Amino acid sequence: MRLLGLAGFLGVVLRSVAAIDLVLGDEASVKEAASTIAFGLVKYYTGNYTGDTPGNLPDPYFWWECGAMFGTLIDYWALTGDDSYNAITLQAITHQGTPMGDFMPRNQSRTLGNDDQGFWGLAAMSAAETNFPNPPPDQPQWLALAQSLFNQWVSRWDEEFCDGGLRWQIFTFNNGYNYKNSISNGCFINIAARLARFTGNQTYADWAAKVWEWQESIGLISPEYEIRDGMSINLTDNSCKRMDTTLWTYNAGIFLHGAAVMYNLTNGSAVWERRVDGILRTASERFFTDGIMFEQLCEPHGTCDYDQRSFKGYFTRWLAATTQMVPKTYSTIRPLLETDAKAAARACTGNPPTGFRGHPGTACGFKWTVDGFDGLVGVGEQMNALSAIMYTLVDRVPGPLTADTGGTSRGNPSAGTDVQDYWAERPLTTADRAGAWVLTVVVMFGVVAACTFMMK
Ligand SMILES: *[C@@H]1O[C@H](CO)[C@@H](O)[C@H](O)[C@H]1NC(C)=O
Ligand SMILES: *[C@@H]1O[C@H](CO)[C@@H](O)[C@H](O)[C@H]1NC(C)=O
Ligand SMILES: *[C@@H]1O[C@H](CO)[C@@H](O)[C@H](O)[C@H]1NC(C)=O
Ligand SMILES: *[C@@H]1O[C@H](CO)[C@@H](O)[C@H](O)[C@H]1NC(C)=O
Ligand SMILES: *[C@@H]1O[C@H](CO)[C@@H](O)[C@H](O)[C@H]1NC(C)=O
Ligand SMILES: *[C@@H]1O[C@H](CO)[C@@H](O)[C@H](O)[C@H]1NC(C)=O
Repeated sequence: MRLLGLAGFLGVVLRSVAAIDLVLGDEASVKEAASTIAFGLVKYYTGNYTGDTPGNLPDPYFWWECGAMFGTLIDYWALTGDDSYNAITLQAITHQGTPMGDFMPRNQSRTLGNDDQGFWGLAAMSAAETNFPNPPPDQPQWLALAQSLFNQWVSRWDEEFCDGGLRWQIFTFNNGYNYKNSISNGCFINIAARLARFTGNQTYADWAAKVWEWQESIGLISPEYEIRDGMSINLTDNSCKRMDTTLWTYNAGIFLHGAAVMYNLTNGSAVWERRVDGILRTASERFFTDGIMFEQLCEPHGTCDYDQRSFKGYFTRWLAATTQMVPKTYSTIRPLLETDAKAAARACTGNPPTGFRGHPGTACGFKWTVDGFDGLVGVGEQMNALSAIMYTLVDRVPGPLTADTGGTSRGNPSAGTDVQDYWAERPLTTADRAGAWVLTVVVMFGVVAACTFMMK
């Protein structure tokens, strides 16, 4: 008791001195700020503790967000050179990659959508592009993990409904199987484009183009280059007309970066240039207020869920990566990154009594628009602010590698082609499905709550 009291007292005293100091342009200052925030982020992770499962975050964070976190930590290392978290990152991704190298862990069957896998695949792709230390030779390698997802998605491309596209879910028993969403197809286009660039194999580039064309033809990319959330399949008449037109930052980001890689790969073709410019123009209108990024759909109402509270971080990641692939966007994107970095640093002054175990007085809030700490803390908040600050270093590091420019990760073009057979031979148990059912109910309540909110 007495100790706690003292800690609390010290917390209050330290509060005013511990805030994040950030001087943009001073590399040491940016790295110091990023290090402080990364420390608070990793404190949420328990997967390397004895008895816990490598790669998992505790509730309420879903499996996909763990993959997103390790993707962020790979970029953290690449941008700052701080390798403090490389060991847990390597352990987590190889464990969740599974011995099959397919990012299909059985434990996660109830939350295993194409996009959930996708965020782990994005981490593996970044590892290949930055020469993140390779896994031991007997384990699946970074490039092969990304190729496995590509091959799985090709096999799940579904022309029977809506003339193409990936469904959200992989398993028929999961809620969302009859929904084709932009983030799943966004993971596909993003990884396909980057595989094309890394390996020089045209098949990947052809698929990236195909994903874009499908998204556009069905209206999920609007004439103004908004990336809308997804399309439901009507099982009565098999039509695809009911679109969820809501806009999320990360959907814009993942397509922007995919298009940027294609622009670079095609030596700046007019088609991809138009697409990059279109998304960037619309996204900078929709997702910024007074020059500061915000999750416009839910942030002003305080209704963002745990997933949505992490989207700004990925949008920041892909904005920064776009400047590497399309250098002429730098003059538009750089000011956005800088304003956000400063605003995010001002949001990292929290000292909540619970829910944060980083350095006292450095907890990051969610809103960057309030010139201070708004009281919301978590993996998303911490990851967003880390991204806002560390990606200002993007112009100080080399661009992503390819196999021809020093990338050492070993690939396997046929990885993942046997996944369907593997699962067919080992059907899910009733216990797996029971887990899925519980989650479906939870998700359905969430949807009802969201709809109720929107009708009000
Ligand atoms: C888990 O990893 C973190 C970050 O590297 C480290 O601080 C912590 O000591 C590790 N915990 C265990 C039990 O190994
Ligand atoms: C699946 O769960 C078991 C039991 O908790 C655990 O030992 C194993 O590491 C988990 N596998 C993955 C890939 O998470
Ligand atoms: C599905 O299609 C049927 C038949 O065209 C139509 O009556 C129904 O309203 C549609 N359902 C939705 C949710 O759009
Ligand atoms: C892009 O330019 C390079 C070097 O000039 C050339 O080798 C390559 O074929 C070009 N690629 C395309 C798709 O035009
Ligand atoms: C492609 O990216 C490289 C590396 O960032 C850059 O030097 C080059 O100018 C880009 N190509 C185009 C057409 O913008
Ligand atoms: C290119 O990728 C495709 C699709 O994975 C694969 O079938 C083909 O073998 C690859 N080509 C080469 C030369 O690696």
